[in-house]
Amino acid sequence: MLKSTVCFYFLAILPVFLVIPISSSLSPETKVLLEIKSYFKDPFNYLESWSELRSSCEFTGIHCDIDSGHVIGISLPNISLSGKISPSISLLPDLTTLELGENAISGVVPSAMANCTNLRVLNLSANFLTGQLPDLSSLQKLQVLDLSKNSFDGRFPAWVTKTSGLVKLVLAKNDFDAGEMPENIGSLKNLTWLFLANCKLRGEMPASIYELTSLETLDLSHNQISGQLSKAISNLSKLYKIEIYQNNLTGVIPPEVANLTLLREFDISGNRFTGKLPPEIGSLERLTVFHVYMNNFSGELPRGFEDLKSLVSFSLYQNSFSGELPSNLGRFSPLEKIDISENNFAGDFPRFLCQNKRLQFLLALDNNFSGEFPESYGECKTLIRFRICQNSFTGRVPDGLWGLPSAVIMDLADNGFIGGISSEIGMSASLTQLYLQNNRFSEELPGELGNLSQLYKLFAHNNSFSGQIPSQFGNLKNLSFLHLQENALAGTIPSALGTCDSLIDLNLAHNSLCDNQLSGEVPAGILLIASEGALYGNEDLCIDTSNQNHRQLRSCSSSNSYKDARWKPIVVVLTILSVTFVLLFGLGFVRFWNLKLKTHFNRRDLEEGEDKDSKWMLQSFHPMVLNRAEILDLDEANLIASGGTGKVYRLDLNRNRGTVAVKKLWNTVGESVLAAEIGTMVKIRHRNIVKLYACLITRKSKYLVLEYMPNGNLYQALRREMKGGRPELDWNKRYMIAVGAAKAIMYLHHDCNPAIIHRDIKSANILLDEEYEAKIADFGIATVDDGSEWSCLAGTHGYIAPELACSLRATKKSDVYSFGVVLLELITGRCPTDPHLGEEDIVSWISSHFKGQDLAEAYDPRLSSFAAECMAKVLEIAIRCTTKRPSSRPTMREVVNMLTDANPASVVTTGKSSSKNW
Ligand SMILES: *[C@@H]1O[C@H](CO)[C@@H](O)[C@H](O)[C@H]1NC(C)=O
Ligand SMILES: *[C@@H]1O[C@H](CO)[C@@H](O)[C@H](O)[C@H]1NC(C)=O
Ligand SMILES: *[C@@H]1O[C@H](CO)[C@@H](O)[C@H](O)[C@H]1NC(C)=O
Ligand SMILES: *[C@@H]1O[C@H](CO)[C@@H](O)[C@H](O)[C@H]1NC(C)=O
Ligand SMILES: *[C@@H]1O[C@H](CO)[C@@H](O)[C@H](O)[C@H]1NC(C)=O
Ligand SMILES: *[C@@H]1O[C@H](CO)[C@@H](O)[C@H](O)[C@H]1NC(C)=O
Ligand SMILES: *[C@@H]1O[C@H](CO)[C@@H](O)[C@H](O)[C@H]1NC(C)=O
Repeated sequence: MLKSTVCFYFLAILPVFLVIPISSSLSPETKVLLEIKSYFKDPFNYLESWSELRSSCEFTGIHCDIDSGHVIGISLPNISLSGKISPSISLLPDLTTLELGENAISGVVPSAMANCTNLRVLNLSANFLTGQLPDLSSLQKLQVLDLSKNSFDGRFPAWVTKTSGLVKLVLAKNDFDAGEMPENIGSLKNLTWLFLANCKLRGEMPASIYELTSLETLDLSHNQISGQLSKAISNLSKLYKIEIYQNNLTGVIPPEVANLTLLREFDISGNRFTGKLPPEIGSLERLTVFHVYMNNFSGELPRGFEDLKSLVSFSLYQNSFSGELPSNLGRFSPLEKIDISENNFAGDFPRFLCQNKRLQFLLALDNNFSGEFPESYGECKTLIRFRICQNSFTGRVPDGLWGLPSAVIMDLADNGFIGGISSEIGMSASLTQLYLQNNRFSEELPGELGNLSQLYKLFAHNNSFSGQIPSQFGNLKNLSFLHLQENALAGTIPSALGTCDSLIDLNLAHNSLCDNQLSGEVPAGILLIASEGALYGNEDLCIDTSNQNHRQLRSCSSSNSYKDARWKPIVVVLTILSVTFVLLFGLGFVRFWNLKLKTHFNRRDLEEGEDKDSKWMLQSFHPMVLNRAEILDLDEANLIASGGTGKVYRLDLNRNRGTVAVKKLWNTVGESVLAAEIGTMVKIRHRNIVKLYACLITRKSKYLVLEYMPNGNLYQALRREMKGGRPELDWNKRYMIAVGAAKAIMYLHHDCNPAIIHRDIKSANILLDEEYEAKIADFGIATVDDGSEWSCLAGTHGYIAPELACSLRATKKSDVYSFGVVLLELITGRCPTDPHLGEEDIVSWISSHFKGQDLAEAYDPRLSSFAAECMAKVLEIAIRCTTKRPSSRPTMREVVNMLTDANPASVVTTGKSSSKNW
């Protein structure tokens, strides 16, 4: 008893003894390190060992000099540190290494760092550091300076040329002001690694760069550097890597490049180089990567390339090369990727590109190759992308070439191939896209095509395929596009085709040269997806009388004709409903109950008879077993959103069956709105449109079960911030969202028949999946474009096109207007009816307030100015979409094209295609 009391007493006072004496005797370096720690945030407690209880030399990531015992190194890369860098760092006089890369540190580099004059390695790469860099030219011992992948702004740090001992200089990917490379960069005589990609450098390359005689890697990619490559480059005899792609360089490649005998990687793509490649370049026997795509090169390829023994990646696309390829190209190389597309190469195709069985990408589209395609490629089992379309190949395709187990894309379109598809096609189990159109293929389509479970697109139109459409096509559960028009197919359309759940685009029509002669009744599932012209010209096809959707087809019981079915507005809803029913039978839905139809269907009592409600139904549009009780048991804690047509809940299905969203419609929502939403969503299938899984109607309420979107809606996401106050949606994400949403609306407007007008495009109706891919939702008030007038009350304030203020009808162009408002939200980060805009809405604010001024002021200040160019283009598109006159607005198809062109990655392509015409 006594013993344990003493023991307790001793334990209680122990910490006091431990702390007081030690903290008063803390070494100055320990104090400094603890001060530095107090500036960091360390969510995973990696710096736990940094405490008064230990000697500073035992701290994680600290290195001390063995003799003096002083701290000489701090090395804490990639441990999720955030917070700031303390100026106290300058109080460690012997510090030679500071490595804090790959963390989330923000704030500025303290100017006190200029006092760390013993630093040899300073690596702060991949953090969130901002502001102008202090002048650190006092760090005369610096050998490695890596400040890449931050958000430093202000002028490019020209002082780096004064730290003359630098061996590695890495400043890539920052937000510096546009400017020139320092004139005296050549004074860094010991530099081996120069990495200045994405630094907004412009002007000519300084001549002194050719004095960097120790240089091994030169990477200036993604800038606007102009001028020519000098023959003095041969002085950089240690170079093994040249990356100057995506710049504004011109002129010819000097033959002196061939003096760089150590050269392994050479990438000068996306410039404006011209002329022939110097023949000497073929003697660079260590080459592994040779990329010169997207330039204006012409003439023949140097013969020497065929003797290379290390070549792995070879890309020349979008130039004007001509002549034959060296016939032994690839024979002695471990070639993995070759892209010679969009040139004028002619003659026989080389046989040896896959000689060493490594080739994955073979891209040779849009050239003038002729003759038969070499049999040797039948052995090339490594091929993933195989595209030789738009050439003049003839003869049969070698049997082996059909069975490529890794191939994802096979594109033989637009050639003069003959013969049939070999049954070996069944071996190409990875195939998602098969393009055979516009050839002279014949014979029957092999049933083995049905084995291609990943197949998404099959284009075989304009050939002479004969016989029946194989019923095995019914196995193609991922098939979305099937084009078999303009062939000599006959027989009935297999009803199994109606079970291809993903099919959205089917064409079986004929033309006058080559007639498909399909006959018999068209399966109901097919009618839903086939457009007006898709079955055209097959005189012997007919449809069941209950369907009025295809007026050009005769009825199978030929006495009834529906040629004069008319589309009155009221009929639209009924039609959509009947379409829904047809779909239920045709596509074999999992569950369907309806008391009214009880006499026709056996009621299957999954609900275990507990339901006293007399009117309810559960329709499932997706092969997912849903449980009615589960849907009805919604938890208010899981409410995700509440909107114009109802409340949306998150629902985690039992037994790990995944998560869905359940929308409980307001009771005021009538049957017609529900029918509209269901009818529309069932008909349309697009990757950027939310999937409808099921609908449930009880006497009290109506529910829709939808795909769950973990990232909520765009309106919310635009307002969320990550650590450090950065917006969750950076510009890149916003741009991808804009493109995705635009594609969905384009699909509704231009690819649906009849076209669908959404009428409520707004950021709250654009949902985001886990990858932030946009999905359009809420079709409650969408209308089928039948030319009739609709009330102007639909839509949401701030997004409504001005013409709808007076009772004109909603059009595709009013959707375009609303989409333009969404683009403005993405650019400005503001709400369309932001109170700060005063009386104005966002559209008039942009156009009036910024008329003639710098529109850049309108950009969301939280976005980095990095993508200003792309943002300016998107802003221009937004302004065009929101012009007052509907007729001046672009169509959604044009919007998608313009948006795609606004991407910085495709700018060079666009510029190139215009210069290609001369
Ligand atoms: C950072 O650490 C993670 C795992 O902790 C690792 O997956 C990643 O590759 C590391 N990054 C770098 C650049 O070392
Ligand atoms: C800087 O640190 C990062 C992260 O640890 C590392 O990946 C990179 O190679 C370093 N830079 C240099 C020039 O060594
Ligand atoms: C650097 O050190 C000197 C002398 O110790 C001091 O006067 C000066 O303020 C320091 N500079 C910075 C920026 O802290
Ligand atoms: C360059 O490297 C050499 C050899 O390592 C060295 O002697 C010389 O001092 C370095 N130059 C500078 C300016 O540091
Ligand atoms: C390149 O080297 C040659 C001789 O080796 C020399 O005459 C020439 O001045 C050098 N060029 C440059 C730009 O340094
Ligand atoms: C590219 O260089 C040309 C001159 O060669 C110049 O007129 C043009 O402005 C440059 N483009 C850019 C984006 O710097
Ligand atoms: C470049 O190589 C050529 C021969 O191919 C040679 O005559 C010339 O002297 C070399 N130039 C340099 C700077 O090494």
